[in-house]
Amino acid sequence: MNKLKALILSNNEILITNLKGLFEKHSIETDVMSEWKKSFSDASTYSYYLIDEAAVHDDQAITVPSLSYLVGIVQNPSFENVRSWMNKGANDVVVLPEDLTRLDEFILKTKESAKARETNYSNTGKIGGKVTAFYSAKGGSGKTFLATAIAQALQVRHDQKVILIDLNAQFGGLDAMLGLEVSRSYADLQPVVKELGIHHIENVAFKDERTGNLVLLSPANPAKAEDITEELISKLIRICRQSFDHIILDLPSSINTVSFTGLNEAAHIYYVLTPDSPGLKAFKTAEDVFQRFQLGNQENLSVILNRTHAKNELTEKDLAEVITRPIIGKVRADFFNIQANVNMGNPFYLKKKEKPGSKALKDIVQLVEKSMK
Ligand SMILES: Nc1ncnc2c1ncn2[C@@H]1O[C@H](COP(=O)(O)OP(=O)(O)O)[C@@H](O)[C@H]1O
Ligand SMILES: [Mg+2]
Repeated sequence: MNKLKALILSNNEILITNLKGLFEKHSIETDVMSEWKKSFSDASTYSYYLIDEAAVHDDQAITVPSLSYLVGIVQNPSFENVRSWMNKGANDVVVLPEDLTRLDEFILKTKESAKARETNYSNTGKIGGKVTAFYSAKGGSGKTFLATAIAQALQVRHDQKVILIDLNAQFGGLDAMLGLEVSRSYADLQPVVKELGIHHIENVAFKDERTGNLVLLSPANPAKAEDITEELISKLIRICRQSFDHIILDLPSSINTVSFTGLNEAAHIYYVLTPDSPGLKAFKTAEDVFQRFQLGNQENLSVILNRTHAKNELTEKDLAEVITRPIIGKVRADFFNIQANVNMGNPFYLKKKEKPGSKALKDIVQLVEKSMK
């Protein structure tokens, strides 16, 4: 069942009748609203948004889910006006009733992929692989290390199909952790974002033959990184959910379009916290940001303590008293063993039943085993 729905936002009776007739012809249900509500943006209810500019105020931000189609209905199709709609993310701008035929063709052309999107990328979180983001507001906490080691443990020790995505646009990090020198990145997919499919992704990803992980790197070129859109990142992740059991996102400490989209798409966020005052301070800042942007609710954000040690400034007990999120695991500090692995670009896990090579890697094995239960 994949019944498509369209939202018509207008107060103009003639226009509404015209549009209703058109969508009916395509067996697409319509809802008519007279005023824009912010809640229209988040629900994945509508595949098409037909927005009459007369029904929105200048200061109203119209954002639609990135996999839906937005069509602006204007009276005056001036260059400036059309460009402003395109900047808002409109797929098309029409003048009605003159452009009814063109709109008809647009629906015809997009209906099939809208249906596929509806079935495949439905935002319910129930189908497809699990998206997990590793985040911390403090650099050097161990996000990249944990994301990498956990991705490897899942694939090597639990036969899970895993894709590891570096969302550190501009600076990367995964390449160094894995000892990779690959020039392909997901920035190469920006030009094909409209028709993006799994084969595009596989073309630019790197398969780590040692572990089986597929790795998608971020662009090393800052100019390329700037052009990456929310649409690309969110489509990437949703398409990967079709083909992988786990989509592991390695995030930077900074919040930008790329990292924000990653956090937003994640079913679970692991906050990597080092048990010291700079770590705690950064955590509190992050909590404010999460609240402001409504990220990470009570169930889907948990803390992993990293680099724990008998001489840590703060103990788990100290931290548990001041943070409200659950601490779901501890990974011990293990400088020599880990650094040796990283310097050689060696994977942290290579065989299914192998005894982990160090304290930190043992802790991670336990964490992963717990998460698989
Ligand atoms: N538990 C640990 N024990 C020892 N070294 C660690 C541990 N976790 C991370 N590191 C090291 O600390 C450095 C920074 O980690 P990284 O994962 O790159 O941090 P982030 O991605 O949060 O900036 C890396 O060299 C990494 O190998
Ligand atoms: Mg990192």
